[in-house]
Amino acid sequence: MWPLVLCIIAFVSLWLYRWSNPRCNGKLPPGSMGLPFIGETLQFFAPNTTSNMPPFIRDRIKLYIFIIRYGPIFCTSLVGRPVIVSTDADLNYFIFQQEGNLFQSWYPDTFTEIFGKQNVGSLHGFMYKYLKNMVLSLFGPQSLKNMLPEVEQSAHTYLKRWSTQKSVELKDATAGLIFDLTAKKLISYEPDQKSSEKNLRENFDAFIKGLISFPLNIPGTAYYRCLQGRKNAMRKLKSLLEQRREIKPRKEEKIDFFDYVLVELEKEDTVLTEAIALDLMFVLLFASFETTSLAITMAIKFISENPLVLEELTKEHEAIIQKREKSDSHLTWKEYKSMKFTFQFINETVRLANIVPGIFRKALREVNFKGYSIPAGWAVMVCPPAVHLNPEMYKDPHEFNPWRWNGMEVNGASKHFMAFGGGMRFCVGTDFTKVQMAVFIHCLVTKYKWKIIRGGHIVRTPGLQFPDGFHVKIYEKK
Ligand code: HEM
Ligand SMILES: *[C@@H]1O[C@H](CO)[C@@H](O)[C@H](O)[C@H]1NC(C)=O
Ligand SMILES: *[C@@H]1O[C@H](CO)[C@@H](O)[C@H](O)[C@H]1NC(C)=O
Repeated sequence: MWPLVLCIIAFVSLWLYRWSNPRCNGKLPPGSMGLPFIGETLQFFAPNTTSNMPPFIRDRIKLYIFIIRYGPIFCTSLVGRPVIVSTDADLNYFIFQQEGNLFQSWYPDTFTEIFGKQNVGSLHGFMYKYLKNMVLSLFGPQSLKNMLPEVEQSAHTYLKRWSTQKSVELKDATAGLIFDLTAKKLISYEPDQKSSEKNLRENFDAFIKGLISFPLNIPGTAYYRCLQGRKNAMRKLKSLLEQRREIKPRKEEKIDFFDYVLVELEKEDTVLTEAIALDLMFVLLFASFETTSLAITMAIKFISENPLVLEELTKEHEAIIQKREKSDSHLTWKEYKSMKFTFQFINETVRLANIVPGIFRKALREVNFKGYSIPAGWAVMVCPPAVHLNPEMYKDPHEFNPWRWNGMEVNGASKHFMAFGGGMRFCVGTDFTKVQMAVFIHCLVTKYKWKIIRGGHIVRTPGLQFPDGFHVKIYEKK
């Protein structure tokens, strides 16, 4: 009996020792692997209301102002994986530059389960480049130019509708606006008002509500509803694609994502399958409307809190209208490009919003950097909030100050700005997002005023959320 007990104790101790001291050929960055199995997952996901550096990160870099705990590069364990966290600008840059070489995109397994096994994030090499080109052709500069009047029209229509309501919840309302616009562009989708069936966005809503939840797949849980939402949305997308098959090829200028897919699927030597195309469609719709509606809601929150910013924005946009020959003509591309302060405002908004709390990669080989080694197979998390709140790059980093971007572009701000990622996997929707935000702000500040009714508080889990919404009353200006 005793030998067996001793054996088990020895085995467990060795295992525990290995857990907290993982094997590594070189010097592992400092840090703690936390509890067996769960690691530091709970601390990482602990909700916090602060817009400062996430406490999880801050407490590991520095304990008190002057006492360094682990420093800017440290190790931990999240969702069952050993992870190196990087808040170091040089390492971040290196990771982005080495995409596909030393590092590769990687997201936790629950994400793969949720987003489909073949989503953009985890596709590599040829397939990935090919899909990216397809997306870029829909959201490249020329398409955006053509899209401008439509973006303006939809912003006007929605704002007008909201102004007749007693109050609107901005996060939900802007999500509706962006979703309808994106779905129309990508798959020519128009919600069917008459149908009693849930429309596509409702399926996405169920999906999003359960996205950051405990992954327990039994009826009644948020996670279950999340997967059901995805399943229903996928079924809907599939039937839309089927319907499109029946219709003859359409005119050049009307081409959307489904047209690309159908033409490509006809080809003999194609690598695209229907399943991949539908997964990609789902990720794209999700990536576009959830992030952009958060950005617009945060933008309105920041404007509400900073009257000087509202004044400057109003000045810029009223000047655009005054310069026109006909004040009711549409926004032109030239006018859009002239919105200098608005672009600074957008940069500042996404810098402080920190919509993406972590960008994940996997080390393909052992990597040595600044005296540390990152073992092959380990996950790496680049942490944009730490970069955006670095007081050495951004003076008084918590202050909302769009003017700080004056002249910033010349001193290589890009290494210190990664709201849209960096390197090869830089967000393909960046320009599309900027168009939507700038045009929305143009319509808002020139024609409307608003009053906060309630809400507007944020929580980070660590993903950005508005737990009690952001309710405002919108008025048309006289
Ligand atoms: C405020 C709005 C947005 C933010 C903050 C944002 C942020 C990001 C970030 C940080 C990445 C890099 C992910 C990584 O490196 O693993 C990314 C990638 C991506 N984004 Fe966005 N995004 C936004 C809007 C959009 C929109 C509107 C679209 C679609 C039209 C879009 C489509 C994508 C796609 C397809 C990728 C993957 C690109 C790749 O892996 O090469 N995003 N985004
Ligand atoms: C947020 O983090 C701080 C610092 O770690 C902590 O004191 C606070 O209790 C946390 N919780 C909330 C809800 O903000
Ligand atoms: C916004 O940030 C990007 C990335 O650093 C930079 O290239 C761009 O010039 C900035 N825009 C403005 C108006 O400062």
